[in-house]
Amino acid sequence: MVMGDFAQGTQVAVIGGGTGGYVAAIRAAQLGLEVTLIEKTALGGVCLNWGCIPSKALIHVASLKKQIEEAGAIGLVTAPPKVDLAAVIRWKDTIVDKLRKGIESLLAGNGVTVVQGVAHLTGPASLSVETDKGVHRFEFEHAILATGSTAAELPGMPRDGRIVIDSTDALQPKSLPDQLAVIGAGAVGLELGIVYAKLGTQVTILEGAPRLLPMLDRQIPPVIEKSLKRMNIELVLGASVKSIDSTDRVATVRYTTPDDEKRLEVDRVLVAVGRRPNTADFGLEKVGVKLDKRGFVEVNKRMETSVRNIFAVGDMVAGPMLAHRASYQGKIAAEVIAGQPAAYEAVEVPLVIFSDPEIAMVGLTEEQAAEQGIKVRTGVFPFKALGRTLTLGEEGVGFSKVVADEETGRVVGVHIVGPSASDLIAEGCLAVASAAHYEDLTLTMHAHPTLPESIEEAAEQIEHHAIHIFSPGKKGPSLSRRESEEL
Ligand code: NAI
Repeated sequence: MVMGDFAQGTQVAVIGGGTGGYVAAIRAAQLGLEVTLIEKTALGGVCLNWGCIPSKALIHVASLKKQIEEAGAIGLVTAPPKVDLAAVIRWKDTIVDKLRKGIESLLAGNGVTVVQGVAHLTGPASLSVETDKGVHRFEFEHAILATGSTAAELPGMPRDGRIVIDSTDALQPKSLPDQLAVIGAGAVGLELGIVYAKLGTQVTILEGAPRLLPMLDRQIPPVIEKSLKRMNIELVLGASVKSIDSTDRVATVRYTTPDDEKRLEVDRVLVAVGRRPNTADFGLEKVGVKLDKRGFVEVNKRMETSVRNIFAVGDMVAGPMLAHRASYQGKIAAEVIAGQPAAYEAVEVPLVIFSDPEIAMVGLTEEQAAEQGIKVRTGVFPFKALGRTLTLGEEGVGFSKVVADEETGRVVGVHIVGPSASDLIAEGCLAVASAAHYEDLTLTMHAHPTLPESIEEAAEQIEHHAIHIFSPGKKGPSLSRRESEEL
């Protein structure tokens, strides 16, 4: 990180160099503002250093291992793969380093001054930064707060970093446990539970809720539950963890289910029960920045806090704690400061879980639409009916689903569970964001053979005329008839 010759006055002070902060800083600098970015640990924040990027690298390694193990089925004869854990972690670290250096040079190229240290707000237009070389004081016209979030702990069961670990620890293991208990079947629990299982660990996931992933389309969780079973991962729903007792090498997890009281002996416990906003101890209350009851910073759609020249973005603001939401909000804050008419409203935040198979959604589920009084029509297309899926050596688990408003035909949601769902959802995001009609998806020619054809056919299936599913009964109008009606 660069320790620049910073000015004592700056137009925009950005606190936090994660995906919210560094993107806000670059956007503000692009718009001609003078920007100082203060980061206490590493540019790129949790996502780049201890989250999204390292986890995706490990997911790739674990999936590749599984593919090699199963390659006999498609005619490849290979020796069973062995994991050199230290080499895997080194490879993951080189990716993180490369991307961090990329951010450093983008910030430098855009003229952003980066200061390494811990920032404290001292007034509505001033802050201090504790650095290695002492305390520096800054005055700012605007500040963008982007301090992110921290993994939550279970009350009375603190992380020790060796036996009871969080996602950061789980991404840099020195050894693989024989048995791992994962507490929480959210994004972290599923992604990392699956990685460890594929690398050879016996994994049990204890989820407190009675239903897996309740915010998703109701057809998705059963697909994931089956897949977990195939990977020999035990999923316990409705599990209430009472205690974790650990020695140097093992832990006993005591939990209850509606029917039983149980204990589980493991050599590591990953706690993945959500995150909490980093909004304490840096002067927010002192300068009058209002927090909500759960400790998140309150903002309006311009990302302004209750102190109008101070903005907040990302995980410290209530809403899905996702990197892409943080960077989107960071750009808005920068643009508002630069005097542009930007606002964070009517934005659909896509959700992706890099499980096996992957899950991705954008917009409303059928249940959410019903709650809002929107009647919908849906089309579902299974991946097993798609040529491309099978040529990838996939079994064809999962589906794409398009949810459209019955009255207007507007696409209000897209839900995918299956191969490359994380990439496929981009078409759904565009459809929902641009208020596309489902026929925009059917009339767009999709290349063959590709996975996105599943979205075209799911949209066709709204009128029961997908070609690669036989559905008896009345079909919707054909393409040629629709065209002739329009002429
Ligand atoms: P999460 O909120 O996604 O899931 C936490 C899970 O733990 C929930 O299913 C909840 O019911 C369960 N839980 C809570 N307390 C519990 C308890 N005492 N006992 C058992 N289960 C309990 O949180 P997670 O997975 O820790 O992720 C943190 C944040 O990071 C989330 O906002 C998530 O969306 C984000 N993230 C996003 C990823 C992605 O975009 N692919 C990957 C990883 C994390």
